[in-house]
Amino acid sequence: MSVFNIDDIEQAVRSKLDKATWDFWAGGANDLITIAENKAAYEEYRIRPRYMRDVTNVSTAPKKPLFSGLDFTVPIGIAPSSMHKLAHHEAEAATARAAKAHNWPMAISSYSTLSLEDAKEAAGDSLVFFQLYVFKNRDTSTDLVRRAEKAGFKAVLVTIDSPFLGLRFAEARNKFTLPPGLAPGNFADGRYAGPIDFAVDSKSKSKGPGKNDALKDGKPNIVDPALVFEDIKWLKSITKMQVWLKGVMTAEDAEAAVAAGADGVWVSNHGGRQLDQCLPTLHALPEVVAAVKGKIPVHVDGGVRRGSDVFKALALGADFVWIGRPVLWGLKYDGQAGVELVERFLEDELKLCMALSGTASVKDINKSYLTHRGPTW
Ligand code: FNR
Repeated sequence: MSVFNIDDIEQAVRSKLDKATWDFWAGGANDLITIAENKAAYEEYRIRPRYMRDVTNVSTAPKKPLFSGLDFTVPIGIAPSSMHKLAHHEAEAATARAAKAHNWPMAISSYSTLSLEDAKEAAGDSLVFFQLYVFKNRDTSTDLVRRAEKAGFKAVLVTIDSPFLGLRFAEARNKFTLPPGLAPGNFADGRYAGPIDFAVDSKSKSKGPGKNDALKDGKPNIVDPALVFEDIKWLKSITKMQVWLKGVMTAEDAEAAVAAGADGVWVSNHGGRQLDQCLPTLHALPEVVAAVKGKIPVHVDGGVRRGSDVFKALALGADFVWIGRPVLWGLKYDGQAGVELVERFLEDELKLCMALSGTASVKDINKSYLTHRGPTW
């Protein structure tokens, strides 16, 4: 089958994937309302184009470097998602090489299949964020952070939207567990495995409603529901890397993040996998941007499938836009080449969208290029 966009890749992959893995990737919390609305929010905006603006040369280069000295091709990156080996035998190495090949930034999950060191080696400068779940056992988190710093990561990206695991009915119905032999690569001895995203503990085969591992106590390395903004100080005391927060969805949390010394915030609702009925990320973005007042960068993810989606998020004030599921689909579709295809589609679509809107550079894109759905359409 020929593929021309991300939707085509999604459909191609769906037909060759077992139901349980498809549901694990595509699914989310409860009634899947937030997943659908993340995507639908982009349809609430339309673009107001300007013509006769000389768009012979369009540059998609980000407005400012994500980290000093790193000039990425586009303000789009690969969001952290667990266990890439479910998609392809080369796992995060294939994703990392695709990031490097297209000069995209990438974040790696705490629950990657490869170790953070191996992934970093494959990605080079592209792998900038180490996504961290802060565990009840702070020594485990400290160990991970120190390893990431040693491996050359630029920032630790703390996921704050998962004090407990969201209810995912499809995973429970499918009794989804990791295939034999698959385990998170950062926890070679299995001791550090936690509950978020999959049940790896042999004693808890199902993590369906009522059997949520995260609700049980007594395990040393489950995510710490007691995490507070004050803990940013602790994180800053154990690393020289920047500390970013992923899951900031309101002005209140954005202000708290700035006050607590966060180096950046990432607007995310975990792709609708945690709190269902959470507002869509595109609608959270403007209030976060307003609250942050330009003091630190604001990134966003959730439901981005088109270059025009990227354009809209940039117009509403995002510095960078990240994609989750499309990367997994690309990886399943054709390994590194599949992820590169996803990257190419988004790059080409963004560039064309910019040219047809009359914005030759990313800094030209602003709110005046959008109109929100009103009574007229
Ligand atoms: C995720 N995401 C995620 N986030 C995180 O901080 N740590 C993680 O380990 C994971 N794991 C994970 C697994 C799978 C299968 C998916 C689909 C997602 C969330 C991810 O970083 C991102 O926020 C969303 O995927 C963005 O939404 P879209 O692009 O998938 O719609």
